[in-house]
This record gives sequence, C-alpha cells and structure tokens, in this order.
Amino acid sequence: MSELSVNHLLGIKYLTEEDINLIFETADHFKEVINRPIKKVPSLRDITIANLFFENSTRTRLSFELAEKRLSADVINFSAASSSVKKGETLIDTVNNILSMKVDMVVMRHPNPGAGVFLSKHVNASIINAGDGAHEHPTQALLDSYSIREKLGEIQGKKVVIVGDILHSRVALSNIFALKLQGAEVKVCGPKTLIPKYIEKLGVTVETDLTKALKWCDVANMLRVQNERMEISYFPSTREYTQQFGVNKRLLDSLDKEIVIMHPGPINRGVEITSDVADSKQAIILDQVQNGVAVRMAVIYLLASKIKQ
Ligand code: NCD
Repeated sequence: MSELSVNHLLGIKYLTEEDINLIFETADHFKEVINRPIKKVPSLRDITIANLFFENSTRTRLSFELAEKRLSADVINFSAASSSVKKGETLIDTVNNILSMKVDMVVMRHPNPGAGVFLSKHVNASIINAGDGAHEHPTQALLDSYSIREKLGEIQGKKVVIVGDILHSRVALSNIFALKLQGAEVKVCGPKTLIPKYIEKLGVTVETDLTKALKWCDVANMLRVQNERMEISYFPSTREYTQQFGVNKRLLDSLDKEIVIMHPGPINRGVEITSDVADSKQAIILDQVQNGVAVRMAVIYLLASKIKQ
C-alpha cells in the first residue's frame, strides 16, 4: 500500500492497520533524514500548513512545527489557549480564516471533542487532530506505538498497561485503539473513579492493583492526572494517588523482569513517576519525543501527497 485510506487524521479509530504500517515505514525513512547533518528535505515546498492551538501545548506544537519545517512546508502559527473557547463561534471564525488564507493543511488542538471532525466538514483542507479535549490524540498514539516497536521489535502480542487518569486522557483512548489494532494486549490501571465504565467494551481489561499490572506487562505507559479537566476530586489526595499508582525505582526493582517505561509528557515528577525512574535506562520518554518528529513528518507527508493528486 502506498497511500493512506483517509484524507485527514482525525483519530486512530478511522485508521486501518495498513495505514499504521505505512506511517511507520515512512517514519523510518524520516528518522534517518533527521539524523543526517542536513536534516531537511524539500518534499513539501508547495504546501502551507496552519497550526491552530486553542489549548496549551509545548512538545506537540514544537514537534509539529519542526516536522513541517523539516519537510520545507510554509508554516503559520496561531495559539489561543483559553478554557472559555466557545465551540460554535470560534470554529466558524477559524473556518473563515482558513478559507481566506488558502492553507492546504491544518493541525489543530482544541478543548472540544469532535472539533477536528467539525472542521474537516467545513474546510477544504486536510485536518490533523493534535488533541481534541479528552477524546483523541492520534499522533501521540502513533509515536508511542512506533517507540514500542523500535524498542521491542513489534507490537503484536506485547502486553501494555496504561496507568493513571484514563477517564480524561485522549492519550489513553488513542493508545487503546492503536495498540488493539496492532494486536497488543492492553490493560488499564488507575483509581476506579478515573476508569470509564465502558472501557472493557474496547477490548481492554481493568486492574486496580499497580504491582499486579506491572508484573503482567512488557510496557507501562504512565499518564499525567489531568487536573485541568476535573471539576471535582476523583481521589483523596495527590499523596495517596502516588502511593497507589506512582511508579518508583523500588517498585520496579522488585519485579523479576525489566519493563519499558513510557510517558507522553509533561511529567509531574514525584507524582506518577519518580525522577530516578523518569531518568533511568528503562524509560524511553526522550525517544518518544524524538520519534514524534519523524512520525509527524510521515503523517504530514502522506496526507499532503493525497492533496497533490
Ligand atoms: C498530552 C496531551 O496534551 O494530551 N501531552 C502531549 O501531547 N504530549 C498528555 C498530557 O497533557 O498529560
């Protein structure tokens, strides 16, 4: 297969396993490019990309911008981080701006689930969802799977536990879709109040005992508690959360095998993982960041080649 089955990247749930394989093969090539002395290719000189960030972001925004620049695209940036963005108004404004700027591709982060789908229906541009509320974050899940594949050889049959705030995490949902599609076994682990009731319908199992989950898995993906998406308390205190669901070196050393530790960032050191774990050889957190650029280059390149046709 040489092209994606989709014209937009709105969520992992719209992709096929072949799409993921194609993205990874393309990312392998771009990973080689970004390790060259001249880290740039002229592929997208005729493409204009708008990065629209209606929600805070550091690494995702920088990673997309770097990926776009390494493909030689023209890039414009718009950030309006605000929790009071009203969906209808702002997105209609966005649509009109995009139409008049004649951009080919839009990378958008937005607090409302479904914002990317909405935009894709109203704008004649290719849309990449860079996180829509607590819904999906497809490029994060792709770079996570790519990093597991790089470390362990393949995803098929691997056991992955996603730990933490599953309820509010778009990283969790996109990872579940991506890992299941590629044949991994997936568990989620966290306080019962932060695990949605429907989760088992997605083909994952629930484990509330972190030690048991870690003994079972090959990979633990540690998520940040999304305090900004909570209006009430879901657990008694941060200290108690850390005692039950935080990973520290002592806990890892007590397992009879070495597991891979992942984190999408930003890390709350001392809450979901301690510094000695985050900085240990077992953690592939910085590989995830590096792979993020190659994977995003691949997604942008493959979607752009569909525009050009
Ligand atoms: C994640 C996000 O924004 O959803 N971060 C990221 O994209 N690297 C996870 C988080 O904020 O905890």
